[in-house]
Amino acid sequence: MFFTTAGMHPLVPFLLGHPHPAGKKLVNVQRCIRTGDIEKIGNKTHHTFFEMLGNWSLGNYFKQDAIKYSFEFLTKTLKIPKKKIVVSCFKGDKNAPKDIVSAEIWKSLGIKKIKFLPKSENWWGPAGKTGPCGPDTEIFVNNMEIWNDVFMQYNKNKQGKYLPLKQKNVDTGMGVERTITILNNLDDNYLSECFLPIIKKIEKLSGKKYKGNEKFMRIIADHIKAATFIIADGIVPSNFEQGYVVRRLIRRAIRYGKKLGMENFVKQIAEPVFQIYDDYNILAENKGKILKELENEEKKFSKTLEIGLRKFNKMATDKVISGKEAFLLFQSYGFPIEITQELAKEKNIKIKIKEYGAEVKKHQKLSKTATQGRFKSGLADNSEATTKLHTATHLLLAALRKVLKNKDINQRGSNITPERLRFDFNFSRKLTEKEIKSVEDFINKKIKEKIPVQRDEMSIDKAKKQGAIGVFDNKYKGKVSVYTIANFSKEICAGPHVDNLRELGKFKIIKEESSSAGVRRIKAKLE
Ligand code: ALA
Repeated sequence: MFFTTAGMHPLVPFLLGHPHPAGKKLVNVQRCIRTGDIEKIGNKTHHTFFEMLGNWSLGNYFKQDAIKYSFEFLTKTLKIPKKKIVVSCFKGDKNAPKDIVSAEIWKSLGIKKIKFLPKSENWWGPAGKTGPCGPDTEIFVNNMEIWNDVFMQYNKNKQGKYLPLKQKNVDTGMGVERTITILNNLDDNYLSECFLPIIKKIEKLSGKKYKGNEKFMRIIADHIKAATFIIADGIVPSNFEQGYVVRRLIRRAIRYGKKLGMENFVKQIAEPVFQIYDDYNILAENKGKILKELENEEKKFSKTLEIGLRKFNKMATDKVISGKEAFLLFQSYGFPIEITQELAKEKNIKIKIKEYGAEVKKHQKLSKTATQGRFKSGLADNSEATTKLHTATHLLLAALRKVLKNKDINQRGSNITPERLRFDFNFSRKLTEKEIKSVEDFINKKIKEKIPVQRDEMSIDKAKKQGAIGVFDNKYKGKVSVYTIANFSKEICAGPHVDNLRELGKFKIIKEESSSAGVRRIKAKLE
């Protein structure tokens, strides 16, 4: 999974029986990201980013104590009146019996309103495809679910079977935002201290009132808060994986912001997030970087949004958007599919979504080799030009090690477009002109020697023994591919690469600069 979705997420091995260094009873607060139900954002209680309070029993206390503790915390510590509490329990199915035990415990505590619901409602997990899961009992206050006690006693395996776990665990999750809302006698999380300063900022920048614009303002506040935290954790907007999630959140917020008449607003709306969460060091420490990334993403999208919208309107005259058109909006104008879907919904026109899916697949297939390589190499496509630059990147690393007489130089990042390569490596100072020239000369000499590039498959162990450079994942049991160029370059790499260096032409460094502390960045091209 791309993000931590629940407090139990980092605890999976311990729920499966591995001993936890802190013991068998744990508590924490976990920041979570959930985008699975993004269409719900806009109501009073849902968020993509939220904080979860949890307590866990790793094979220690079970139903009786878990329910008793929850009840005690809610009614005694938080002083929520008993009469406001409603609970639900698991109805039972072929995998697990009806949870009468939990219901009886609730009854003994004086809770009378108990609903029995099916797996879709009263079962939690696994987080991901396999892992610990079980029936749960959910606690509602004023019809809002604020706490979930999950009895993790099953392990769902790859075949979809629910096998009994070695130990019976308790996994609980309580929404911080919802709890704060209830404790303040509010009925809208966005009016609680977790959101209000952001909403106020949106009101100020848009000149509009929250009342009457709740949905848009909630989406903007939610998405920008989530993006702020995701970037704080080291992710930057991109077209891949977590990076694409944060990109979509920001872009969706931008579109709704425009609807409220705001321009260049993302950075300003992020400001209150730093005040609300001033106890999070990762925010304070990365503030400059976070604001810069948000601003860059807004600049990028603003450039294409207007033309993209005009393009969409043209397409919309046919009353239907084809898969190819939706894909064009994605690829050329940076419209995440949900934006196109929302636009279509507003205009009451159809999108051929299956066709769009097929279009995405087709494109993915084309770049499949590159996708495999991307993990290590940062390749974005596998055109001839990028393949050549990829091989040039291997030559560059070898040349740097040689010219700077430093075998500890390693790749710290790589990004290749058809026009140029960008290569980050650890080194503490600027390269002299002479060194740059020597690096270029070394590479061009090797190109002239028309050396073949050799590819072999072998185990990680063997690659290591042969002195290959690369990311060693010791748990990986399969074979890796190793690219060798004469006796000066050997890297574990998914490729692709040219067959012979003579295909490269002439190598030229365009720029050498600092990337971050102790990391230099070289941009180079082939002529
Ligand atoms: N893992 C449970 C949940 O997320 C507690 O609701």
